[in-house]
Amino acid sequence: MTIKEFNVRRAVFDTLTSENFEKKDLSAYKEEDRSLYNEIVTGVLRELRFLDYLVSGSVKKMPRPKMLWVLRIFLYQLLFLDRIPKHAVFSEMKKLATVLKFSPMEIKFSHGVLENIFRAKEKIFQKRQDFLSICEMGKEPGADIKYREAVFNLPHDVILKVLESAEKLDKLPGRAWMAMAALKKESILVGWLLPNVRMDSVDVASLESSAAPFAVAFPNGQTMRSLVAEEKAWIQGEGSQWACEAISRFIKKRIQSGVQEIKVLEIGAGKGGKTLGTFMSLYQTDPEILKKIKWCAVDVDPKQQDFFDDSVSAPLKKWNADFEYRIWDFLRSKEDFDFGDADIVWIDAPCSGLGTLSKHPEIAGKVTAKALEELAEKQVKLLNSVKKYVKNKGYLVLSLCTLTSTECVDTVHRFSSQNENYELVAQKILWPGTQELETTDGFFLGVFQNFKA
Ligand SMILES: C[S@@+](CC[C@H](N)C(=O)[O-])C[C@H]1O[C@@H](n2cnc3c(N)ncnc32)[C@H](O)[C@@H]1O
Repeated sequence: MTIKEFNVRRAVFDTLTSENFEKKDLSAYKEEDRSLYNEIVTGVLRELRFLDYLVSGSVKKMPRPKMLWVLRIFLYQLLFLDRIPKHAVFSEMKKLATVLKFSPMEIKFSHGVLENIFRAKEKIFQKRQDFLSICEMGKEPGADIKYREAVFNLPHDVILKVLESAEKLDKLPGRAWMAMAALKKESILVGWLLPNVRMDSVDVASLESSAAPFAVAFPNGQTMRSLVAEEKAWIQGEGSQWACEAISRFIKKRIQSGVQEIKVLEIGAGKGGKTLGTFMSLYQTDPEILKKIKWCAVDVDPKQQDFFDDSVSAPLKKWNADFEYRIWDFLRSKEDFDFGDADIVWIDAPCSGLGTLSKHPEIAGKVTAKALEELAEKQVKLLNSVKKYVKNKGYLVLSLCTLTSTECVDTVHRFSSQNENYELVAQKILWPGTQELETTDGFFLGVFQNFKA
């Protein structure tokens, strides 16, 4: 191909519709063509969800995939690349659509969709800006969740799906996550290497993926347990790691402020992934810290305890942690839980798990708005039934691996409005794709402080 024959839009189209979003080698082409190609490819991926939202608002039925990609590519130029005149965008669109053998009707249709959206450009950007300002000002807790839902005006699960795929496509790691999910489905144990660990052992099959370089598939439970005990590997995803880091930072800060003993009541400890993660983070900072912590992990489900005893207890014992695991139902039990007032009551509550869509895409099809309401109801009930175990000035922490406002924002608002003495002192949100590690789950943490009347 000579320089003259190179068609930027065609190359963009080929890349975006290729299986792995393979970028072209453009070293032989003009600098301006290369930069336009890069700008459109990355811009379309970055704004994918926004572009789809706009298209979905102006068609009765979403167009077939090829046509949708053409609309996205030219819509992006119309809205974001002011230096390209409108007539040039339309004529390039017609050229590409003709090469792709669109019928004259389809070309007319695509033209109409672009024209309609372009006419509303000012209004669209005003709305986008208004919501962005609310978020940036940080005035409203959970504003960014609301922003994304409102701007895209779609059901939560669809938003998250689009968000996850868009932000993941941008960095192309989806395949590795799917591989991890597939392995998990086959009951193969998967986990993560801890920072600075290199696995050369033939026993441990690394996924050898640049997208998930820390992922490992353990050949058996024994290998997994010993690697965990040797502090080489861990069995949780980045979203959970993020939550554990946040909780452990919080505990460290309390200890550094001079507190002699910290009592933690962890509710919904399950298999203990986050328990172990938090202990591991504390231990790695300073093993002495563990001497000041008394920890009680609780779950309603006895099956979870078996797993916990099998894989998490060993490293905790090795580190001499003051630790116990109990089975208890905080919603049904009439008696009081015998542990005394805790400095921190942490609920890793049951939720839709929509923040983990990239690893569990099957969730999207299962979650309904009604299910979200029911889960939110359960979360508020759990918060209300465990609040009595929080010390005066102590903390009640809610963690959720989801980002729907029904479960996150509404739950914390409902609990705050029912409990004047509990103040929402921190709210942390992890959006998929926003960590250095390239891929993350979506995660939510709400922290209340108890100011007893
Ligand atoms: C999100 S999962 C916990 C995951 C776990 N923390 C981990 O990191 O692997 C929520 C847990 O809450 C537990 N749970 C649900 N209702 C409960 C209740 N009423 N009392 C105690 N635990 C409950 C469930 O059995 C489940 O294990």
